[in-house]
Amino acid sequence: MADQAFTSSTLAVPSLNKVPQHVAIIMDGNGRWARKRFLPRIAGHSRGVEAVRGIIRASIERGVGYLTLFAFSSENWRRPAEEVSFLMQLFIKSLQKEVSRLHENNIRFRVIGDRSRFEPILVKAIEAAEELTASNTRLHLTVAANYGGRWDVLSAVNRILARQAGMEGISEEMISAELSMSFAPEPDLFIRTGGEKRISNFLLWQLAYTEFFFTDALWPDFDAKAFDQAIASYQERERRFGRTSEQLANATDSKTEHHA
Ligand code: IPE
Ligand code: IPE
Ligand code: MG
Repeated sequence: MADQAFTSSTLAVPSLNKVPQHVAIIMDGNGRWARKRFLPRIAGHSRGVEAVRGIIRASIERGVGYLTLFAFSSENWRRPAEEVSFLMQLFIKSLQKEVSRLHENNIRFRVIGDRSRFEPILVKAIEAAEELTASNTRLHLTVAANYGGRWDVLSAVNRILARQAGMEGISEEMISAELSMSFAPEPDLFIRTGGEKRISNFLLWQLAYTEFFFTDALWPDFDAKAFDQAIASYQERERRFGRTSEQLANATDSKTEHHA
């Protein structure tokens, strides 16, 4: 269900902080990182997990409240079976290894995406981690696994349809409330490493007014310094949400100006 504390950027102008409250990242370039070193692609994925650790730490230090990481898309099943299988095993192993540390650091862990194709051992590890960390508050860490933006919107619509007998039409609020990330504000900052400039079916609905940052850095090389560059770039942007620059300049206190 929706967390009513957060408004939709298209229904009302959200209040903003200097530090992005929610950062969403497409962690791309593991395979190329490995190839450059004449290593198998999977070596890049293993190093990618270390980069994840560094960015979690940096997010906490910078005061980011929500960190959402794209780990496996609904289209990544198209990869060679051995790579898919390695990624699933890596996910299980990393969860087992890291979950107590996440908990000690007061991090709330969630997975978004369709779990129906996962092995039962992975589903159990995810559920255990979500349960253990359910009351943590310092950082909302969300991993998107077998996630697709279109899957997310379709599942939301289908849940609404299943509930509604005498349909009067579906509103924007109804869909937002059913999406996987209804617990979080919309991303302020989107980062994609690896040089590609596309969304690859990540958070389609939620990225409506997100600021984009693309970098050629390959994910295993993306460290706290690179993360700070993305935040610095974010801080230079003027987020207008459809309004004019003049309107923003005239607003006496844009922080308290919630309505369009
Ligand atoms: C991102 O790195 C990780 C996943 C999609 C699982 P890639 O594996 O896509 O790396 P490149 O893009 O081939 O370099
Ligand atoms: C996007 O990366 C998905 C993840 C990082 C999990 P891909 O490497 O799969 O994206 P495309 O295929 O280049 O668009
Ligand atoms: Mg890639």
